[in-house]
Parts: sequence; C-alpha cells; structure tokens
Amino acid sequence: MDFFHYSKGELYCEGMKASRLAGLFGTPLYVYSLKTFVRHFEVVRKAFGDKPHIICFAVKANPNLAILKTAGLLGGGADVVSGGELRLALRAGIRPEKIVYSGVGKTEEEIEFALNSKILFISAESMPELESIARIAKRLKITAPVSIRVNPDIDPRTHPHIATGLKQTKFGLSETESKKAYEFIHFNKRLNPVGISMHIGSQVGYVEPYVDAARKIINLYKYLKRRKLPLKYIDIGGGWAAYFRPEDDIPEPDDYVSAMSGLFTDIETTIIAEPGRAIIGNAGILLMKVIAIKRNGGKNYCIVDAGMNDFVRPVLYNAKHRVESVRGSSGEKVLYDIVGPLCESGDFLARDVRLPKVRKNDCLALFTAGAYGSSMGSNYNSRMRPMEIAVAGEKVMVIRERDTFRDIIRNQKLRDLTAGIVNSVKKNIGL
Ligand code: LLP
Repeated sequence: MDFFHYSKGELYCEGMKASRLAGLFGTPLYVYSLKTFVRHFEVVRKAFGDKPHIICFAVKANPNLAILKTAGLLGGGADVVSGGELRLALRAGIRPEKIVYSGVGKTEEEIEFALNSKILFISAESMPELESIARIAKRLKITAPVSIRVNPDIDPRTHPHIATGLKQTKFGLSETESKKAYEFIHFNKRLNPVGISMHIGSQVGYVEPYVDAARKIINLYKYLKRRKLPLKYIDIGGGWAAYFRPEDDIPEPDDYVSAMSGLFTDIETTIIAEPGRAIIGNAGILLMKVIAIKRNGGKNYCIVDAGMNDFVRPVLYNAKHRVESVRGSSGEKVLYDIVGPLCESGDFLARDVRLPKVRKNDCLALFTAGAYGSSMGSNYNSRMRPMEIAVAGEKVMVIRERDTFRDIIRNQKLRDLTAGIVNSVKKNIGL
C-alpha cells in the first residue's frame, strides 16, 4: 500500500498534486512519499514482533541523506557496501552499532574505516578478506567484530543479474568454506565472530528460497554455537519484493518473516534484516514531461525528458515499471513506447504502454521508482541528474537539488592540457 492516488483524474502524492509538483520544481523529478516510506518501515519492523531485531536499511537502494536520516529516526540501522555508503549512513545520523558492512571487494582503507567507526560487524566474503581484517585489527590494537556471508546455494528465482545466493556467483562462502573461516576466526584473537549472514538476491517474490536458505544458515549457527563461538546475530539479508502493479501477488514482509519464524524459535539471537526495495521502492515515483511524439516503423514513440541515465532499470533488467499520465487514464488509449532523449536504442522507460492520447508538455509518472532509481543514476550524455523531493502531507522538502553544469565539470581539469602538448603528440606520430 502506498500514498500515491488518483482523485478526480489527478495523481496525488499524499496531499500534493503531481502536476503541481512538476510545475513548481520542473522535470525529471523524483518524488518520495514520506508516509509510504515510514509505513513500509513500520510494517517490516512489526513483522518481527517482539523477536529482537535490527532493520538495517540497504543504503544502495536509496542513499539520499534525508531517506537515511528518516530510517535512523525510525530506529533503523544501515546495510552498507562501501566506504562512501558508510560515510553517508554516519552523516545521516545512523548509529554505528546498527551498521553492517557487506561486499566482496572491501579495500584495506574501507576495512580500517569501518573498524575505526565501530560498526556492528563486517560481513566477510572471502578468506583473504578475513586475513586483511585480522591484520588491520592487530595494527589498530582492537578486536574486529565479524560475520561470514554464507552462500547457501539457493535459487532465489529472480533476474539473474540480481540473484546472489547461488554457488556460481561471486558472493559469500560455501557452507564448507564458511566452517573453515569460522575456525580461523575462533583461533584468531583479533577477530570476534558475532554473526552469520546471507543475502540471496533482490526482488525475490517467493518465501521458499528464504526458508531453504535460512534453514541452512541456522543449522550452521547451531553447529558453531555448539563449538562455543559467541555468535549473537543472524543476518537474513534483504531482497524482499516490491509490487510493480498494485495487483502483483508478492509476499508481504509478514509472510517472509512468518515463513522463517519456525526456524528461529529455539535459538536466542538478534535477527538483522537488510531490506531496501520493499521499504523505499513504492515510496517513490519519477515525474517526466513529454518533449515530443513521433511515429517510426509503425510505432508511436513518446519522447520524455527522463532517460536511461535517470532510470536504468528497464534496459538493465528488462524491468517493467508502470507509467501513467498524471491526469489519469480516461479517454481513448494509444499504444506508446516511452523513450528518453539519449542516443541509445536502450534508452527506454517502458514499452507498449497504453495511455490516453499524449501531447507535448504532458506529465507522466513512472512508479516503483524509489529504489535503485536515483541511486543508479548517472550524468551520461552530460545530462543533469534530477531533483529529488520528499512530500509529507502537504509539506514538500527538496532533498537533492537538480545538477547544474558546474556539477558536471566539477572534477575535471583542463589546465595541464596545452596546444603545445597536442602538437608534440602529432609530431611524435609523424603527422
Ligand atoms: N543486502 C545486501 C548484501 C545486498 O547486496 C542488497 C542488494 C540488499 C541487502 C538489499 O536488497 P533489496 O532489499 O533492496 O532487494 N540494482 C538492482 C538491485 C541490486 C541489489 C543488490 N543488492 C535493481 O535495480 O533491481
């Protein structure tokens, strides 16, 4: 359930008309409904009932500081996968003891930063990484809290690019390797084994893969406890699905947790969940304006001012996001491909969408854009990244300004490249 709705043929985000927001702030525009974000967060939290837990919001889904701050104010933590994400989470006020850090390629600098920041634990994804953590902890004269990301070899039944729980992916350690890793930790006084982790994939629309994977890591947890390892946390990762159409039949947060809960009954542990999309996905839309309509090869192209640099999911994962006019769906329908202005055929936002006849300057909304929308945006084609706003009732907050040309050239340097250098290069190759 979200707080975007149509009333008298107009799309609203909570108390604000989408067309008004587009008029006030321009397009493309990411619009987040704070009420939806808060509601989804609470639904996830309630799913755990009185079982000790921490909701570590997956920063990669939406790293906007205002979103992270809201997660923190709701008592949430953060799941980070880079030094940059860790800095953002801390900057947003998320408490370090609620931050977990996964990722297959942490640099030594990132590990040191995480240890110095006193986060809850680092989820190690390889033996060499564990060895680095131990070495750095020794140099810092501290004990590093660690978890092992176990690869449970489970098929999450999602798009192959976002399936991470199968053994043929780069993620985690197999059960056998994990046992060896925990033994290494057990005998290394610089490492403290506080948890066990998994993350099987994203947009996982079934509970069964979680049950199968959780069963495996809980068995491992029990085995390790019998060997006197002081594990306290079971991190079940993220990946819970968001709906792409209101009628999508996907599990609710409560369904995922209830399906697994039988496995947790006889163990004392704090559960960590790392949802991103399930919380923020349907809290965001992308508003875009129609630049032109054209017909080519028998197709109607609706060219809008947002493109694959603003929203890459359709071309990257063949994701089918709902696109609608902010003025509703009445009137005779025409079939359109909604495409952006970039110079690539992959620059589309949705294909074969039935919309009431669209005209230049009309405003369209792309739904389920809150997760992996802005966060995967780029300046490709030297385009300005969109503004982001958050709506709470009738209050509107700008939470990211639109890029300006200065942002695009900010890190570029021209000074050293002179005409003399170009001429000497030419001479050098005999031209
Ligand atoms: N925890 C870990 C260790 C992860 O790698 C991820 C996502 C999450 C949690 C959060 O997953 P979520 O609950 O948001 O599904 N760009 C892709 C999604 C990539 C997800 C990568 N890992 C997309 O647009 O579908």
